[in-house]
Amino acid sequence: MRIVLLGAPGSGKGTQSQRLVKAYGIPQISTGDLLREAVAKNTELGRRAKAAMDAGKLVDDATVLGMIRERLSRPDAATGFILDGFPRNIPQADALEAMLRELGTPLDAVVLLNLDLGILFKRLSGRRICEVCGQVFNTYFSTAQELAHCAKGPEHKLIQRPDDKEDVIGKRLEVYEAQTKPLIQHYTELKLLRVVDADADVETVFNAIQRAVQGASKPSA
Ligand code: AP5
Repeated sequence: MRIVLLGAPGSGKGTQSQRLVKAYGIPQISTGDLLREAVAKNTELGRRAKAAMDAGKLVDDATVLGMIRERLSRPDAATGFILDGFPRNIPQADALEAMLRELGTPLDAVVLLNLDLGILFKRLSGRRICEVCGQVFNTYFSTAQELAHCAKGPEHKLIQRPDDKEDVIGKRLEVYEAQTKPLIQHYTELKLLRVVDADADVETVFNAIQRAVQGASKPSA
C-alpha cells in the first residue's frame, strides 16, 4: 500500500504513521524526521535546512526531493510506504507523481487528517518528545506520570521541539494554509483523497484511517 498522510502541523500524521507501520509492515517516510536527523548530525543538508525549519518555513524543494528520491529507492519501500509530511506543495506533488510513474508504482490513496485550528495549536504547543526514544506525549492529554519522563526510565527526558514554540507554530500554520492546503483540491481531482475526522482519540482516528484505505491498494505495475 502506498499512501500519503496529509494534514496540518499537529493533525496526528506522525502518531498515526507509527500505528500504520505496525499494522501494514510498510515504512513511514517522514521528511520532517529525515530533516531533523540531518540537523542533529550537522550534515551539509542539515545545516542548509535548519534556518527554514527554525522559522517554520518549508525547506527548499530541491533538498526535499533529493532526500525523497533516495529514500524511495531503498528496498524496504518497494512493497509500500506511508509518506508523512510530503508532499507539502504542488511542485512536490508533481515531482512525486513523476517519480512514482517512473517506478510504475502509483499512489493508492491520500488521507487528509482534518482538524480545527484551535485544537492544532494545543496539540503542537503541548507536544513533548522523549529525547532518547522519540516517543510523543502531550501536556494537555498525557498523564502527570507520563509527563515526568517516558515509561522507559528517568534518563528518558522529555523535550519540546524548537518549532513547537508558540511564535513558530503560527508561521507553520500559515505556511500550511498557503502552500499545502491546495493539495486537497489537487488530490480530490485525482480521485485519491479520503477525508478522516482527526478530532477523536488516537484509536478512533486510526480505525477511521483503516476504513478509508481499505480496498485502496492496487497491484504494482
Ligand atoms: P514535520 O516534522 O513534517 O512537521 P509537521 O507537518 O508540522 O507535523 P508535526 O510533526 O508537527 O505534526 P503531526 O501531524 O505529525 O502530529 P503528531 O502526530 O506529532 O515538519 C517539520 C519541518 O520540517 C517543517 O516545518 C519544514 O520546515 C520541514 N519540512 C518537513 N517536510 C517538508 C517538506 N516536504 N518540504 C519542505 N519542508 C519540509 O501529533 C501532535 C501532538 O498531538 C502530539 O503531542 C501527539 O501526542 C498529539 N496527538 C496526536 N493525535 C492525537 C489524538 N488523536 N488525540 C490527542 N492527541 C493527539
